[in-house]
Amino acid sequence: MTSLTPEYWVAQLAPNPGVNYAVTLWLTEAVPADQFHHWDQENSALRKALHEAAEDGDARRSQSLAGELYRLNANFVQKVLFLHARADEALTRESGLRSALRADKGVLGYALGCAAVHVLLQLTDERGVEQHIADWQTAAPELLGNTKCILQSCTAEEVAQWQDKHRVESNPIPPFEGMNSATSFRHITVLGHEATDALLPEEGKVMLDATLGGGGHSELLLRRGATVWGIDRDPTACAAAHHRLSAYGNRMHVITGCFGDVQELLHHEDVNGVDGIVADLGISSPQVDTPQRGFSFLSEGPLDMRMNPNSPRCAADIVNNASEEEIAEILYVYGEERAARAIARRIVQQRTISPITTTTQLAKIICSILPRRGKQHPATRSFQALRIAVNDELSQLEKLLKGGFALLRSGGRFAVITFHSLEDRAVKRFFEHVSKPELDRPEWPAPRPNPDYAARIITRKPITPGAEELANNPRSRSAKLRVLEKI
Ligand SMILES: C[S@@+](CC[C@H](N)C(=O)[O-])C[C@H]1O[C@@H](n2cnc3c(N)ncnc32)[C@H](O)[C@@H]1O
Repeated sequence: MTSLTPEYWVAQLAPNPGVNYAVTLWLTEAVPADQFHHWDQENSALRKALHEAAEDGDARRSQSLAGELYRLNANFVQKVLFLHARADEALTRESGLRSALRADKGVLGYALGCAAVHVLLQLTDERGVEQHIADWQTAAPELLGNTKCILQSCTAEEVAQWQDKHRVESNPIPPFEGMNSATSFRHITVLGHEATDALLPEEGKVMLDATLGGGGHSELLLRRGATVWGIDRDPTACAAAHHRLSAYGNRMHVITGCFGDVQELLHHEDVNGVDGIVADLGISSPQVDTPQRGFSFLSEGPLDMRMNPNSPRCAADIVNNASEEEIAEILYVYGEERAARAIARRIVQQRTISPITTTTQLAKIICSILPRRGKQHPATRSFQALRIAVNDELSQLEKLLKGGFALLRSGGRFAVITFHSLEDRAVKRFFEHVSKPELDRPEWPAPRPNPDYAARIITRKPITPGAEELANNPRSRSAKLRVLEKI
């Protein structure tokens, strides 16, 4: 366990009781040795220089070196937290580590990344950092048996900021009331009334919100007396919605999972039919606005794009490992990007020089092929394509349409909000198919009965946001709502 010695402590001082610390632990094999070695060398050199400056009494230099050291470590922590590694399986919701962190009174909050654990810790006179870590290791030896560690002191304000920025799971009694990630989840619901009114919610009806997000659509259904089952694959969204909707007691149920598995998820809860389904596809504002989630080309962040941070494959995996043909196909099919081949070629050239690990790195590569014209950023289509591929969005949608429709009771309604043409096409095609009494093909002598016929379309043309909604929420601009009723 040599890796947990103070050698890797960022502060040159031993940790102090009563002070808040951010501890990042990661599996040795999760971070490529050369990256670790590079960081380690820079870290040692800076710490040595800082020590000398302090001995010389050079306050200005000490301050500037401390700033440099802080930035070096903050960047490294960020990289480590989002590096994809084999630790995925160990970092499940059920891991012993999670219970150990919850049971530890000094832990203010924690975030389980795919290869690392970030813990906000307050020390007391009785227990130093090593004792805390030893307890966590006892609870999760398979996870923390071979780890490295960074320890950074931070003020209460920094803790709160960090909790806001990262996906921190707060302990049952959060010390900074009102500042955990659940309460800072901000998403403006799109076509809220249009989508939920269409489901005819009322007391006694059971509704499914397949894309819970911040819980906006769910809340509108709950206000009308319905019972709601909400699904989201993003644990942060589930936590936020759970927090927001707790006042509705046992009328609100939250499930963390993929909507493609809707039938299994609801059957598991003994729910065999629903009276309405709303699905508001795509990503939420907190997902796109958090640089560390890696969805946005506008801010620097790891090239991640996973809606569920525990999923196995992130965008960097595709960009750095897929073949040129595969990348071109993803960009062309999911992004309808005409320059797909040229972009894929440039990506492959660049990654032989150095791996493409950040959003802005990729955006720059795309801009080197596609100069900016008009309002749309050149990287928009490629980022959409990668996001769709990473989250397997189109096959998830197909499964939701089929599985959700099977769960709908007669008279039940299905409302889907889409944000791009690939999604809208899939929804339109499915709705048209199940609402056609007969099918016809040129090679058939006469039309035949459609075995899947069981619905009528409520919205002949999709409903789109009105001027007021567009003015309040420009992100709603490409939304299209389609509604179907099972007969
Ligand atoms: C646009 S947001 C929903 C916002 C929500 N309707 C509201 O008003 O607060 C879409 C959500 O769907 C989730 N999501 C997307 N694809 C999913 C899938 N296949 N399974 C489960 N959740 C998914 C995303 O994680 C995101 O939180």
